[in-house]
Amino acid sequence: LRSHDPIHWLSLPGQEGWMITRYQDVFDILKNPRFQKRIAASNVFRRFRPFVKLQEHMFLFQNPPDHTRIRTFVSKVFNQHTQHLQEHVQEISDYLIDSKQDAGTMDVISDYAFPLPAIVIARVLGVPMDDCERFRQWSNTLIQSIDLIRTDTTLYKGAEVAGELIEYFQYLIKKRREDPKHDLISALLAETKQENPLNEDELLATCILLLNAGHENTVNLIGNGMLLLLSNVDQLEQLKQNPSLISSAVEEFLRYETPTQMTVRFATEDMRLGNQFIKKGQQVHLFLGAANRDPEVFFEPDRLDIARTSNQHLAFGWGIHFCLGAALARTEGQIAVQTLLRRTSKLELLIDEPQWRGLIGFRGLDTLPIS
Ligand code: HEM
Repeated sequence: LRSHDPIHWLSLPGQEGWMITRYQDVFDILKNPRFQKRIAASNVFRRFRPFVKLQEHMFLFQNPPDHTRIRTFVSKVFNQHTQHLQEHVQEISDYLIDSKQDAGTMDVISDYAFPLPAIVIARVLGVPMDDCERFRQWSNTLIQSIDLIRTDTTLYKGAEVAGELIEYFQYLIKKRREDPKHDLISALLAETKQENPLNEDELLATCILLLNAGHENTVNLIGNGMLLLLSNVDQLEQLKQNPSLISSAVEEFLRYETPTQMTVRFATEDMRLGNQFIKKGQQVHLFLGAANRDPEVFFEPDRLDIARTSNQHLAFGWGIHFCLGAALARTEGQIAVQTLLRRTSKLELLIDEPQWRGLIGFRGLDTLPIS
């Protein structure tokens, strides 16, 4: 598609729009205010509507001026609570490896890549640790219900889970309002009281957004990164010999197996794009993963090169919606992979074929057993 039909019209049951796969087009649209966010919710279940309503209050799905107002406020509090987390991330990585040390085997996804960012974001937000495992189920179900190839069944299950998640956070916010702690939810509540920049719906939506965004993609960064290293032994050896390459290695994992494969915008007016005519209201699907393998921008894009020097990938998006948690995700990815390599003398894959989750919008593994 990228080389022959980079702006391609696709019509699927319940979904249609333009598929944009070239780096330059994706980049231009991400920066172009004539393409905006909107929630495509015309034919969803009535049961799913409370969650759709909630999504409308998430700044990820909003446009200026509301997006600017909420993001400016939330990023101030978020940055204060995530600035010095290296030590904490290191402790959790070591703890997770220690608890699997005797077994001799590990599923990188469920034993390591999932709990690490889930524990970090839960602690930042002030969500009790015991509830972390429930989030895995919740977010697995939710992600299937918002994928490009969602079905009635995945939508229905998503609606149930969304209701539980909303109730859970309503309860937690009430508790923190009565009895504030040193966590992000309490800080958002305190700031909201002083300046009143977020309403109740926006506060609830922000907590749920941060919890989900805060672990879902990072699990895939760590899992995909480990799979890439274990399937490219020369790169694994290079990283072991030269640990200072960890930062360029993580950027390469993000480029090569991009966790958020796709994001969506809507045209706010009729316009020409390349040799296609986009009509007002039409949906454009921006394939970040395809853009990140564009040979016009990346030298030998299908080759994994952990020492790649020029790597302006779009894995965290670009423009006003650029990922709020990019710095945290990078810290988690670097420490997680580095620690696993340092703490284990010999790592081996226990499967021949990787088991991908089978989603279009998100690139991640179901399991990754290693010894
Ligand atoms: C936005 C990817 C980790 C919070 C985004 C976007 C992408 C992305 C592509 C832009 C979406 C768009 O333009 O439509 C990733 C990846 C991650 C990651 C690949 C991990 C490897 C995190 C973490 C957090 C987070 C750890 C928070 C704790 C957010 C938020 C937004 C966002 C709040 C919305 C920003 C806005 O709309 O202004 N992320 N993310 N992300 N991300 Fe991340």
